[in-house]
Amino acid sequence: MAQLTGNERAKYVQEMFTRIARRYDLMNRLMTGGQDVRWRKRVIELARLDENASLLDLGTGTGDLAREALAEFPQARVVGADFTLEMMRVGRRAGLLDFSAADALRLPFPDASFDAVVSGFLMRNVVDLQKALEEQYRILKHGGRIVILDTTRPKKNILSPFIWLHMHFVIPTLGGLLTGSRDAYRYLPETTEGFVTVEEMASRMEKAGFLKVGFQRLMLGTIAIHWGVKA
Ligand SMILES: C[S@@+](CC[C@H](N)C(=O)[O-])C[C@H]1O[C@@H](n2cnc3c(N)ncnc32)[C@H](O)[C@@H]1O
Repeated sequence: MAQLTGNERAKYVQEMFTRIARRYDLMNRLMTGGQDVRWRKRVIELARLDENASLLDLGTGTGDLAREALAEFPQARVVGADFTLEMMRVGRRAGLLDFSAADALRLPFPDASFDAVVSGFLMRNVVDLQKALEEQYRILKHGGRIVILDTTRPKKNILSPFIWLHMHFVIPTLGGLLTGSRDAYRYLPETTEGFVTVEEMASRMEKAGFLKVGFQRLMLGTIAIHWGVKA
């Protein structure tokens, strides 16, 4: 996978999520020890929605973040968008949600149409990170918020060997057993290690125009949440 770029990489990502869609949520719960539920709540909290807010959950997958937002703000207009139809099809079984087929690099929404945009484990996958940030900036209203949850390269510390073992052995083995696709769960450490650092992500967000950019590390530094505001 590491050698793929552009459309070829996007196609690989789509096929991979199509293959694992059915077991995706279960695998998330298992490999994070259920912690991802807490991180999603934090993402929605940082989006600072109100009753009538409009929210885009980009790279929504099966819609977990969108559903979390609706549980807290039932009146909000929440759209889940993704370019892998099978993920959204699986998500539809978990309850009705406004799903939209969309590529993060060419969003089918007008300028300034959402109060907030959130994403969970999307940004590591996009083939052009800067373009994805610029598109999210474009569709946000002035004062709108972006919140990004993703895995990140942890700093070296005493636990590094255990983290390495979890990422390179436990997750691919579990993923292989549960989804039949060990590949997909080798992709996770590979893309995490190849992804920008938390500091670099923050400066990319500023370059896209976001103000008040900040971030928080979680889970021994292997997960990060970034946020920012459209000027
Ligand atoms: C790891 S899953 C995350 C799903 C969900 N957001 C969550 O928090 O569990 C990544 C999702 O991003 C989607 N994705 C990757 N690249 C995309 C792109 N360029 N445009 C839209 N969706 C994309 C994939 O199809 C997949 O459903």
